Amino acid sequence: MPYIIGLHSAASAFLSAGFATQFTVAVVICLVIVLATSSLQGDGEQAPKSLPGLHFFSIFPFFRQRHDFLKWGFDITGESIFQFQLMSNTVIVVSGASARQAFFYAKGFDLTEGFKILSGAIPMVRGVTSGLQTKRISTIHKRLAAVQKNASLSQLIPVILEDSRRILASYEASGTFDPFDKIYELIFQTTVRSLSSSEISDDAALVARLKTLYDRLDTGTTPATVLIPWFPTPAMIKKLWATKEIYDIIVRAINAREQSGISRNDTLQMLVESGDERLTIVGFIMGLLIAGARATGTTASWVITFLGGHADWRAKAKSEVEALLTAHSDPTAASLSCRLAEIPLEIWESQTPVLDAIIRETLRIAQPHTAMRRNLGPDVYINEKLIPSGSYVVYPFSDVHLDPEIYPDPWRFDPSREASKVDLAYVGWGVGKTTCLGTRLAKVELKLTTALFILGFDHEIVDKTGAAPEALPRPNWNDILLCRPPPGSCYVKYKRTDLAL
Ligand code: HEM
Repeated sequence: MPYIIGLHSAASAFLSAGFATQFTVAVVICLVIVLATSSLQGDGEQAPKSLPGLHFFSIFPFFRQRHDFLKWGFDITGESIFQFQLMSNTVIVVSGASARQAFFYAKGFDLTEGFKILSGAIPMVRGVTSGLQTKRISTIHKRLAAVQKNASLSQLIPVILEDSRRILASYEASGTFDPFDKIYELIFQTTVRSLSSSEISDDAALVARLKTLYDRLDTGTTPATVLIPWFPTPAMIKKLWATKEIYDIIVRAINAREQSGISRNDTLQMLVESGDERLTIVGFIMGLLIAGARATGTTASWVITFLGGHADWRAKAKSEVEALLTAHSDPTAASLSCRLAEIPLEIWESQTPVLDAIIRETLRIAQPHTAMRRNLGPDVYINEKLIPSGSYVVYPFSDVHLDPEIYPDPWRFDPSREASKVDLAYVGWGVGKTTCLGTRLAKVELKLTTALFILGFDHEIVDKTGAAPEALPRPNWNDILLCRPPPGSCYVKYKRTDLAL
């Protein structure tokens, strides 16, 4: 990691310069870039309409209030496609059925390139999580497919359940918790288990450390760290350090495994035995943990929140799992988690229509994703508007998932909704050229943890006073990580059932 070490001295000098100097330097650099780039933008006839105002002011809302900002853009331009500048980058926002189709199927639209500039959440370690050659990315995807083959995924069922049991058993017999902390923490553990090594996942303190570091990457993502990632702001340095620490934890685990000569039954073993380069293995664990844990953790937190607010759906889900237990497990088994582990993978995947509908509806309302691409060329037209080669294109999932024409009363949680006949009316796991490559794993994690929780506990949603809230919490799409409702507005009140976890 020579570049990290090289930055060390520059970073130290910058940090010790004091806030006034740092601020002045940052502002001057930003203004120079803005002035240099603002002359580049112009609205040709075929170009999408531009947002009014100074380009500089688009940056902050795009990162901090994305949902409101994009909605404002459509409203103020009165168009279904508009553009704005993020420093020197042209970003085109598209919406509507035909644009959706074009966006997800356009040959030259590239996810990795789009994500790099517009997201910023992934730790950028050249050659490990960024700047990967296509070959390395495809190896990582191949290994992810291997983790989800029937035999491997089946082996993960008991360990995911055991991790969940251990964590849930540490809860008091009754109480309240914030689902966006506690359920996310549970899923972080099961995702680390599924994607890394038993040495890491058996060590609760190390998993907690990893979680803190990943949280630091997420919360440390400021407009500046995305747009001028080379500029050593304190936020950028913190991110860099967190990235380095994550990198070190993973490399230590690989070294320990290789040196011990002991073979274990986990994902790291599969990766090591595949003979991949070390950087590919580190890239697999580092990159997929961030892709997997956040999305699955957000979804699981919302599943538990929605079920806590919809007693009818909670009861339906509970009956479904109880029926599976009756049909596929030994009632004399020691615990609920052992009984759930007896239910075969194919049953979890094909005989849980209620859980499937709950997950699908949760993703529709509480996955604030904005798909991001870069047009690597050639120029294309969407609804007769030019998407030049080199520009960035984004498609907010709210365009389709919260469209009242497709989903009447769109904020209402209703897993019994019939599938819409509109083209690409549901994009929860991606469509077209890019679909989620971790879907099987994510769904299994969601079903196992939800099943254990709703049978092991009774629960409902309360507000900060402990009373039933006047209205159920509504996902906040401006929070691009967890879609979390305002802090303090939503807690889970729970009580253990008499089933031993
Ligand atoms: C509930 C959990 C998850 C949801 C809702 C979800 C959703 C998605 C969506 C919508 C996309 C497409 C994004 C786009 O078009 O811009 C995607 C891509 C992807 N997901 Fe997931 N995901 C989840 C969990 C996971 C997990 C657990 C992993 C890995 C272990 C994973 C790995 C990936 C990868 C590698 C891609 C990129 C595929 C490509 O480049 O072609 N996801 N996911």
